[in-house]
Amino acid sequence: MKVDGKPYRTIWLGSDGTTVQAIDQTLLPHAFVVRDLRNVADATNAIRNMVVRGAPLIGAAAAYGMALAMAEDPSDAMLARAYTLLLESRPTAVNLRWALDDLRSTLAPLPASKRRDAAYKRAAEICDEDVEICRRIGENGLVEIRRIVAAKPPGTTINALTHCNAGWLATVDWGTALSPIYQAHNAGIPIHVWVDETRPRNQGASLTAWELGKHGVPHTVIADNAGGHLMQHGKVDFCIVGSDRTTRRGDVCNKIGTYLKALAAHDNGVPFYVGLPYPTIDWTIEDGHRDIPIEERSAREVSHMTGRTDSGELATVALLPEGSAAANPAFDVTPARLVTGLITERGVCAASEAGLLSLYPEQSRAA
Ligand code: MRU
Repeated sequence: MKVDGKPYRTIWLGSDGTTVQAIDQTLLPHAFVVRDLRNVADATNAIRNMVVRGAPLIGAAAAYGMALAMAEDPSDAMLARAYTLLLESRPTAVNLRWALDDLRSTLAPLPASKRRDAAYKRAAEICDEDVEICRRIGENGLVEIRRIVAAKPPGTTINALTHCNAGWLATVDWGTALSPIYQAHNAGIPIHVWVDETRPRNQGASLTAWELGKHGVPHTVIADNAGGHLMQHGKVDFCIVGSDRTTRRGDVCNKIGTYLKALAAHDNGVPFYVGLPYPTIDWTIEDGHRDIPIEERSAREVSHMTGRTDSGELATVALLPEGSAAANPAFDVTPARLVTGLITERGVCAASEAGLLSLYPEQSRAA
């Protein structure tokens, strides 16, 4: 997507052919800064500290992290160490493990002398593939949006509601949940997006609002608690979110607060869609509540907030009374029964094992 007229991806290989570069998402929307990742420690820290974030981008960054490790030292010991280091950087998005497994199985059979180049090549392929997958999620989601548009009087603005950031900043390009919205906007469909601010890290207010604004998509940021009220008043035509891990039977793990939006959507008859690429599906598990590790992040993300003052400086302020404890579970699981449809690169399916297998028959236990 373009930032002030210049096309960007979220992560790319620098001109020296070794350093990896990524947009620093901790500074948006106040500053647009590109960070150099020079070794596997830099890549690990970038994922852990959310310089890069969002399930597909975490996978892409991990792939480049393995490449940086191979540039440092292509030994078997480094391959194993880099895999573990990167795997431990964040627990919930399964794209991380998917990318690391892919790189490890590509690199392990090769002689050390060939690993560096093979790792960079595979990381670049994973990035290119992510862009194409997300573009196709957009095309498939656009079909659903056109159905919603067709049921309205001609020219009516369609209102979507999204949570967290599942736009191009969360992927290599296009996004998952936001890709259908960009494609609808590009096709001339009048569309407006309610953007949940997404406390405590504010990915909605800081990132989704920023990228929608840069692309010219009309949007309004709302407090996380406002969505149910808007749905009760007919002001939301559909909800669309991303996923960090979707189980074999269609339970969807995503940013904390997603479940509450799905409940409100269900109660109000509002379609609730999830956009996701195939590396986000964890075929090894069925029950999202039981089997998905939920990241617990620092209480400081709840107790403090950073923003720009009227004089233009960044400032961090405390929100809680002294002595109050804070807890920060970063994801929740929306049961499959609350999901209207899973929008993937292969098409749209029901959130169920049968639905997913209709698109990915190679994952059937008999196959
Ligand atoms: O903690 P984050 O910002 O990495 O969480 C991101 C999300 O929950 C996204 O909605 C999810 O990764 C889907 S991204 C296309």
